[in-house]
Order: sequence, then structure tokens, then C-alpha cells
Amino acid sequence: MPMPDHNPNDPAYWDTVVANYEAQAQPFTGFFAEAALARLDISPGTRLLDVACGTGAVALAAARLGAEVLAIDFSQGMVARVLSHGLPNVAGRQMDGQALDLPDGAFDAVVSVFGVMLFADWRAGLREMARVTRPGGQAAVAVWRDPRGAATHLFIAQVRADLFPDHAMAVPFSGMTVLSDPDGLAACLVEAGFADPVIVPVHHDFHLNMAAFDDAERFFAMSPALTTLAPEQRTAVLAEMRRRAEAGRTGDTYPIPATALIAVARRP
Ligand SMILES: C[S@@+](CC[C@H](N)C(=O)[O-])C[C@H]1O[C@@H](n2cnc3c(N)ncnc32)[C@H](O)[C@@H]1O
Repeated sequence: MPMPDHNPNDPAYWDTVVANYEAQAQPFTGFFAEAALARLDISPGTRLLDVACGTGAVALAAARLGAEVLAIDFSQGMVARVLSHGLPNVAGRQMDGQALDLPDGAFDAVVSVFGVMLFADWRAGLREMARVTRPGGQAAVAVWRDPRGAATHLFIAQVRADLFPDHAMAVPFSGMTVLSDPDGLAACLVEAGFADPVIVPVHHDFHLNMAAFDDAERFFAMSPALTTLAPEQRTAVLAEMRRRAEAGRTGDTYPIPATALIAVARRP
């Protein structure tokens, strides 16, 4: 089956993966979204902005805490999915996180979980987060500790590197590299206009359902480490992944360890 062009800086790409993302990724990113929110002062009425909301991991969890949420994403499909829940305290707008169409200081809390790290101009994304946070307000940013990402992306990247070491894949996003280092993350938050960053590693396994291998090309269609390979290399990587997963499975799933860095900072 043909795979969608993987260009995370193109909203049209994200529009094509909304259902896949919600089914495969959001249950996993939701864990880190809740971990980020738990580090913020959120109470009923807190004005919270979710930057690069995807299918709503942060927005929906913040809404459950009573926050008044605005969820933004440059993918109209993602925003529509969040709004389809019909929650009275969740608004959504299609918007580029690198140039927020929002007033200065409008939010008590601003959160981006695995979002801003992907932006072409992620430094602008962080600056925009600081600009719209009110003085005294807080922000939380979650990024992956491994610049190659996590879950199936990381698994595929590891197998690909082992099988085709001469065909190494450059990390496509400088944000994922710079921000995957705790010192780099802290420095960039300060540079963007935040103060007192506190960064904690948070671990959580991704449980890859073994049934994924029944239709592997479709299931792993979101990963650039696979889509950028020739068809015969892709087949070889998928076969080796299956072999490793069979060897390490626990019941119906294969656990893939992941570590995120969650940074919380204050707007002076
Ligand atoms: C890995 S997903 C994260 C989604 C969600 N925060 C979560 O944790 O599940 C990245 C999201 O960033 C969005 N995105 C990428 N670049 C963007 C930009 N410049 N402005 C707004 N959203 C963007 C994508 O559309 C996608 O929904």
C-alpha cells in the first residue's frame, strides 16, 4: 500500500494520519501529557493553551481538570478531531505555532507535548509560547530524550541502523536534537523568555501490539525511518523488527522503553 509523504512540517501530512495518530500514538503521548499537566498549577478556570494539540492528549486531559482550553494545531484535521468531543471548555483553532495569532499574556499555562520540537523554527515556537503566557504564568514542554524520537519510530530507527549502517538517517529536526539534551532544553527556554526551568525525565513503555505485524506497512506508515527506505530494505527492516518483537514480547505486546524530558518554566 502507498505510504503518505512524511513531512511533519506540512499540515497536509498530519491531516492524513489523524485516525492512525489517535489510535496508536495518543494513548502513549497521553501518559506524558498527564505527567506534564501534573507539574502545573491547574484548577477550574485556568486559561490553558495546548500548542500543536494533535488529537488532544493535553487538551482533553486539561479539560478534565476544569481548565478553559484553547487547542491549536496547523492541521485542520487534528483540530476538528479535538473539537468533535464537543467539550464545553475546549475551543480549537487551526494555527501555526511559530506565529500564534493570539494576544500577549493571554494564558495562565501554555503546554506543548512533542509539538514544538518538530517545528521548522522551534525557537520561534518557544518564543511564541513565552509571549502568550501571562507574567507569573507557567509553561510545560515535553520532548524525547532520544533525538530519534520514541516508540515505533525509535524501534524502526534502531533496526534500520543495525541492518543498514551505511544508510544512516539524519535526524530531520534540529529541535529534537538540541532540546533532547536537558541543558540545551533549559538554555533554550530561558532564551525564549522563560525563567527557572525545571526538567525531569519521565519513563514509560510503549506497548507495541503484535497484531501490528499483520499489516505492518500500514501500521508503521507514519515513520520516516521506514518510508525513506527502498521497498526491499523496508521489508528487511520489518522482518527483523518482527523477529526481535517475537523474542521480547510479553503476551500480546512488545514493550519499547521511552524517556521524555518534561520541562516546566515560569514567565517572569
Ligand atoms: C507528535 S504530534 C503531538 C500531538 C500531541 N501534542 C500529543 O502529544 O499527542 C505533533 C503535532 O504537531 C503539529 N504541528 C507540527 N508543526 C506545527 C506547527 N508549525 N504549528 C502547529 N502545529 C504543528 C502536528 O500537526 C501534530 O499534530
